[in-house]
Amino acid sequence: MSKAVDKPIVEVKDLRYSYPDGTQALCGVSFKVFRGESVALLGPNGAGKSTLFLHLNGLLTPAKGCVTIIGRDASEKNNLKFIRSKVGMVFQNPDDQLFQSSLWDEVAFGPLNLGLSKNTIIRRVNSALKTVGLSGLEKKAPHHLSLGQKRRAAIATVMAMDPQILVLDEPTANLDPKAVGVIIELLNRFNANGKTIIAATHDINILPLIADKCFIMSEGRITSEESVEELLSNRNILSEANLVPPPIAKPFLKSR
Ligand SMILES: Nc1ncnc2c1ncn2[C@@H]1O[C@H](COP(=O)(O)OP(=O)(O)O)[C@@H](O)[C@H]1O
Ligand SMILES: [Mg+2]
Repeated sequence: MSKAVDKPIVEVKDLRYSYPDGTQALCGVSFKVFRGESVALLGPNGAGKSTLFLHLNGLLTPAKGCVTIIGRDASEKNNLKFIRSKVGMVFQNPDDQLFQSSLWDEVAFGPLNLGLSKNTIIRRVNSALKTVGLSGLEKKAPHHLSLGQKRRAAIATVMAMDPQILVLDEPTANLDPKAVGVIIELLNRFNANGKTIIAATHDINILPLIADKCFIMSEGRITSEESVEELLSNRNILSEANLVPPPIAKPFLKSR
């Protein structure tokens, strides 16, 4: 899966951010992601994963430090349109993402904002809905979909923008195993086309299926970068990320 070459597609340097109430959520985050990589971000609740993601398409602006996407600084207002067309953001809660009265309008919203022609919009919407397996539900109200369908609808809204980078916040949380399988397949197909994925997840079972490398995050910092193999076989790294090893991994665990 890994096709790391030359310049990073995403580079975060010493990123710091405090919320208006004074909570320091990011305390100097640095990492690089290369084109075509699929990266998992792991860490306990409150580690700063969602806050970090909000910086990757300029929804939050760094208090200090720097976020560069495909060579463009995300804190420059002039770059935001470009960055938002390249970084597809899938929120943890699809209800934060879906707000139109029909699935068609929902998926067409982004391409309409890009100012694309009518025919291109129709093509993009049809293609995105087909990719996520929701063709035929165009007229349905997104809030009437099941959670698994809502997650796929949210992915379709960003896929219709034809992004280079997909950022997903806990994309398989609270889904049944079949719905998890569908999301994994979607991510694999996106990645197989040379696109880049960054996903926050607590689901250790899907790691070998979706990730080339893992960043462990704790208290507003990335504390280590590991291969999936190293992470799954190392008791200390797992506990740092607040992860419980699957029973089948227990005989193979070592300590650092
Ligand atoms: N809107 C907000 N206002 C104030 N504090 C927040 C807000 N959102 C998150 N936080 C705080 O920022 C820290 C990081 O949260 P978050 O990025 O949601 O972590 P994670 O996604 O890893 O669970 C936590 O201490 C959380 O309480
Ligand atoms: Mg979160």
